[in-house]
Amino acid sequence: MIDADRSPEWYSRGLPHAWLPYCQMKVAPPPLPVVRAHGCRIVLADGRELIDGIASWWSACHGYNHPHIRAAVERQLAVMPHVMFGGLAHEPALALAARLAAMAPAGLARVFFTDSGSIAVEVALKIALQFWLNRGQPGRTRFLCFANGYHGDTLGAMAVSDPERSMHRAFAHGLPRHHVVDIPEDPSGLADLDRFLERHANGIAAMIVEPLVQGAGGMRFHSPEVLAGMRRLATAHDILFIADEIATGFWRTGDRFACETAGIRPDILCVGKALTGGTMTMGATLATEEVFAAFLSDDWDAALMHGPTFMANPLACAAANASLDLFEREPKADRVRQIEVRLRDRLEPCRALPGIVDVRARGAIGVVQLEQGTDVYSLRPRFVAEGVWIRPFKDVVYLMPPLVIDDDELDILISAVRTVLAARR
Ligand SMILES: Cc1ncc(COP(=O)(O)O)c(C=O)c1O
Repeated sequence: MIDADRSPEWYSRGLPHAWLPYCQMKVAPPPLPVVRAHGCRIVLADGRELIDGIASWWSACHGYNHPHIRAAVERQLAVMPHVMFGGLAHEPALALAARLAAMAPAGLARVFFTDSGSIAVEVALKIALQFWLNRGQPGRTRFLCFANGYHGDTLGAMAVSDPERSMHRAFAHGLPRHHVVDIPEDPSGLADLDRFLERHANGIAAMIVEPLVQGAGGMRFHSPEVLAGMRRLATAHDILFIADEIATGFWRTGDRFACETAGIRPDILCVGKALTGGTMTMGATLATEEVFAAFLSDDWDAALMHGPTFMANPLACAAANASLDLFEREPKADRVRQIEVRLRDRLEPCRALPGIVDVRARGAIGVVQLEQGTDVYSLRPRFVAEGVWIRPFKDVVYLMPPLVIDDDELDILISAVRTVLAARR
């Protein structure tokens, strides 16, 4: 697929030195050289354009190289690309903090900026542990998390992801053990969770969940009722409720936040990915005033000890503020609902193909689930041959395109999924 003789000089010179993500470097096919991206398209070095079906790991919600975000970052670059956030503050960060607090489920008024989604989760876990310590309950050291969950690649985040079924299996032996239970599917599942919490809540700091959609664990959905039930149980058993909306936040599932769909407010909320419109690395951890208040003390040891070098980087904040401008200017809820209907209706014929287990859609997420054990990785080059960028994993072929995708481009993605799956042997 990559013609070594025609690949750019920077590619052949640099590739032998790069250690690439999530891949067995001995056998993985080489990555595709990209030179540009615009709108919903990725331009390869050989001139081919791929329609992007996964928005750069679900982040490029406004499409690539959006002029409004680019202009905001360029303006900020000319003024102050970076300054430390310890002891200093700047307008892009404080404006963003106020805007996030205003748009998050009511009450999440305190914003802690982080440099990625995984670190937003790390901060959430640290806040939860120290919340109980500061309140005189140091024994609450464990987390309740869910099978097929995924919360990031750093050690703490891996420890609350599914240790058996996730790609992080290799690290299970070196991670703290937390409680991993099946996500409830119905009232009886919630009753099981209730009984579990009756036995274990005393040692638990928080429950952490990806609301409505478990992403990297296999694009699995649960209902708003189940999510609301989980929130109720956290309250009833007096443990904190952490919503990891790094993938689901900013209209991906149809509402601003998936928690909103369920009518709930978490105690701690993690965001990332689409926060900057997918242009810069940044995350944030939001907490309620009640959580925040547990850190206020005359004792310095009660303070939250976290402060990455590039915390609240002004360029990332400028990108995020510009992304929020676009969300305000071009409301997404209606369009995401249209995308959901189109994905559901037009992927549905895949259900009749051999080896397909399920077809489903929620918001701008369309999923075709294959029989376990299917080699979905071998499908990746076939999608490129169809002119689309779609990256199946585990047992799913899924679409999670930029939210600005138009119907024609969406149909090309959907028909590529149908063609490639139908041609599969
Ligand atoms: C739900 C969820 N949490 C956390 C992360 C980690 O975010 P990042 O890759 O920015 O560290 C991801 C990334 O896919 C995610 O989907």
